[in-house]
Amino acid sequence: MKISSIKTCVVETKERHYKIYFGNDIVKKANIILDRYIKHKSIVIIYDKVLIRKLNTLEISVSKAASNVTSIGINSGENSKSFNNLNFLCEKIIKTGIDRKSILIAFGGGVIGDLTGFVASVLLRGINFIQIPTTMLSQVDSSIGGKTGINSIFGKNLIGSFHQPIAVLSDANILNSLNSREILSGYAEIIKHSLIQDKNFFLWLEKNGKNVIKGNNKLRTECIIRACKIKSDIIKKDEFEFGQRALLNLGHTFGHAIESYLEYDGTILHGEAVSIGIIMAFKLAIKTNSCSQKDLDSVTKHFNDVGLPVSLRQITDKIKSPKKIWALMQNDKKSSEGILKFIIPSKIGQCSIKRNIDPEIILSLLNEEIKNE
Ligand code: GLY
Repeated sequence: MKISSIKTCVVETKERHYKIYFGNDIVKKANIILDRYIKHKSIVIIYDKVLIRKLNTLEISVSKAASNVTSIGINSGENSKSFNNLNFLCEKIIKTGIDRKSILIAFGGGVIGDLTGFVASVLLRGINFIQIPTTMLSQVDSSIGGKTGINSIFGKNLIGSFHQPIAVLSDANILNSLNSREILSGYAEIIKHSLIQDKNFFLWLEKNGKNVIKGNNKLRTECIIRACKIKSDIIKKDEFEFGQRALLNLGHTFGHAIESYLEYDGTILHGEAVSIGIIMAFKLAIKTNSCSQKDLDSVTKHFNDVGLPVSLRQITDKIKSPKKIWALMQNDKKSSEGILKFIIPSKIGQCSIKRNIDPEIILSLLNEEIKNE
């Protein structure tokens, strides 16, 4: 692999500026890119157990630069973002004899990235970590921007920290082993980026989305880089989510409540919940006179065209109580001083943060979504 075939995007934060490296088979040649970060250092790879067959390739590559490499496997699934695993990983990593220069590598999707980042942020009062996201969703969203954390019984990601990685390796080929549902789940976050601030990108997705999902490598890489650039741009302006970064939560207030209601039992993937959440955000925008029916129709059409769900009934009939969804929404981090923030589209490519939306309007929307099933 020629280094020249690797594209990069820089994420500028207060903690550091770091690069996202995009390319094919990056995992195989991780040592070439990571040499300057990991040379002569102790490395601990935290990997998703489903990646056991690919782990060996990464270990061989990292071993060429690092002084020693240990790997620890974690089960797939949102339930792994737990206090138990935080404790398990901290004790196990300390036992390997790490020092403050040691580096953790997160090798997996969002669950592994969030958990590893949080462990890195507290171990020895903070050590460095590298993200190697292996799902489309984590490549375009969770691996960038330094949000780390675990879940509480009261909701998702309620315990965590901001801790930026020192580098992100985004391997296009690794996505080829994902099933179409997982790819679509990541694609939902890509659409989200376009809806927040780039109408031209949405138009591009309308034209090319199906081929991105089918696996056209060139288009896929182009759209992942574009989504990462939008996210990096937002993070540069508002790393700690005092304002604009909250726009990245479009569809997430509804989405997280849906996932939490279902207790992360695998019925729904994160991107599917976000996809339904985005459509609900557009419907809320219409109810509050922020956005046109035409824009909702275009977004719904694109979701239908590519196969993303637009309503809960397409995925499950397990959700019966609008009031419980509403209660879960209020536990979300997006509430501040008891007031829930909503990300409301004003048109495709433009959203704003709204507080004080009449709860009756939200409950009526939830009733329509759930009782109509
Ligand atoms: N996933 C939303 C954010 O990183 O802010």
